[in-house]
Amino acid sequence: MEFSIKQSSPEKQRAGCVVVGVYEGGKLSAAAQLLDKAAAHHLSDLIARGDMNGKAGSTLMLHHAANIAAERVLLVGLGKAAEFSAKQFLDALRAAFAALQKTACKDAALYLADLALKGRDEAWKIKQTVLIAAESGYRFDQLKSKPADAPALRKVMLGCADKPGSTAQQALDQAIAIARGAKLTKDLGNLPGNICTPTYLADQAKAIAKHHKLKVTVLEEKDMHKLGMHSLLSVTRGSAQPAKLITLEYKGGEKKQKPIVLVGKGITFDTGGTSLKPGAEMDEMKYDMCGAATALGTMQAIAEMGLKLNVVAVIPSCENMPDGAASRPGDIVTSMSGQTIEILNTDAEGRLILCDALTYAGRFEPDTVVDIATLTGACVIALGNVATGLFSNDDKLAKELLDAGDYAYDRAWHMPLWDDYQQQLDSNFADMQNIGGRAGGSITAACFLSRFTKDYRWAHLDIAGTAWKSGKDKGATGRPVPLLTQYLVNLENSK
Ligand code: BES
Ligand code: MN
Ligand code: ZN
Repeated sequence: MEFSIKQSSPEKQRAGCVVVGVYEGGKLSAAAQLLDKAAAHHLSDLIARGDMNGKAGSTLMLHHAANIAAERVLLVGLGKAAEFSAKQFLDALRAAFAALQKTACKDAALYLADLALKGRDEAWKIKQTVLIAAESGYRFDQLKSKPADAPALRKVMLGCADKPGSTAQQALDQAIAIARGAKLTKDLGNLPGNICTPTYLADQAKAIAKHHKLKVTVLEEKDMHKLGMHSLLSVTRGSAQPAKLITLEYKGGEKKQKPIVLVGKGITFDTGGTSLKPGAEMDEMKYDMCGAATALGTMQAIAEMGLKLNVVAVIPSCENMPDGAASRPGDIVTSMSGQTIEILNTDAEGRLILCDALTYAGRFEPDTVVDIATLTGACVIALGNVATGLFSNDDKLAKELLDAGDYAYDRAWHMPLWDDYQQQLDSNFADMQNIGGRAGGSITAACFLSRFTKDYRWAHLDIAGTAWKSGKDKGATGRPVPLLTQYLVNLENSK
């Protein structure tokens, strides 16, 4: 999809469709008033007749309205003017694009970025419009023998009453990069485990590196042995696919500037291993590499934006399979940090690969490390599919990530990482065990990771509930690429 932003009058704009908002009760937005005036009150007549009530999420498509240059007019309900909030704005956008995608309309001109919205600036509205438009046109049919027809909607223009400034143009450019990054993340997430293997992820990283001139390194199992990553290696023992430790380095900042390191969980399929998962919905464990996919999507987005920061992605990737060679419950391994781990459940494998990757991340002398992982089912129980679980050893970092998530509407919720939970990981036989019981499962998982992140500022994002949707529309969401890119954009602005 192509995007542009320009000053334009809705009634004169040639397009497949112009899109304007109507509040509940019939109040027209400024752009809708212009159309109404040009079309001799056609819009207000329709509203008076009751064909459009302006309720949030409602739409009405008009064809060939008199004196209007566009072929169609789409009226979008905004809900009550007094209650107009970010959520209503986003719902209206989703409804508008859902309606557009049902037509043969090739290009649309939207006049929604002008709507007054408390606490949200124009840049925000531009970004959200681009992300929701791109989302509406997303299809994953590369594995169907006969892909469906590509969506008709190819061009989206954001019309403004005044000439857009450089902030607006920059917001548009950034949003395009974020949307493309999120698409990469979704595609990787949606690919099945027999295609998206650790080797496939490494090849993707190499392709991004080549295209955007980043440095890429792929460590093999023998290299990991030399580094003493026996925790990570214990997870891949049952798999026929070789494990990979992928690093991508983006150097947009000054040479001496310490990097932000993103560590993404890259389990390309999680059967649970010897502690085998139940069969129902096990297919969804192909998404267990969404942390890795998020790191790759974010790297691509910031490279496209040309952010003046140094950012490294570290991606430990392997499969968790049952096999004669696989780990057994009770096995004890020594991590790269030297700490020993009793593996009481081979299905708590994410933390076993992350702990070595987090130790490895220390080699980059990071300013900050953020890991992203589909780590626990317990996080889904706690926060559902709305908020990402956020844990950190630094409250300022936690706030920066929460704020970025709020702004991007890709929200996280701060969870406790108190020492009081640590005792649940005590083991009779090793320095720690890899599970802490049912109580506070997402917290004890974070506590486990915290034992490997003492040397730097660190946050952990548990995206088990937010990285993909189940049910009829199952698929990867591309989250939290918007949160992370916004965090990095904010960081660049604060430098
Ligand atoms: N990849 C899963 C976490 C997961 C489960 C994500 C369900 C999304 C939906 C992780 O590797 C896992 O299996 N975690 C276990 C940990 C338990 C054994 C302590 C879990 O959450 O059940
Ligand atoms: Mn597991
Ligand atoms: Zn897993």
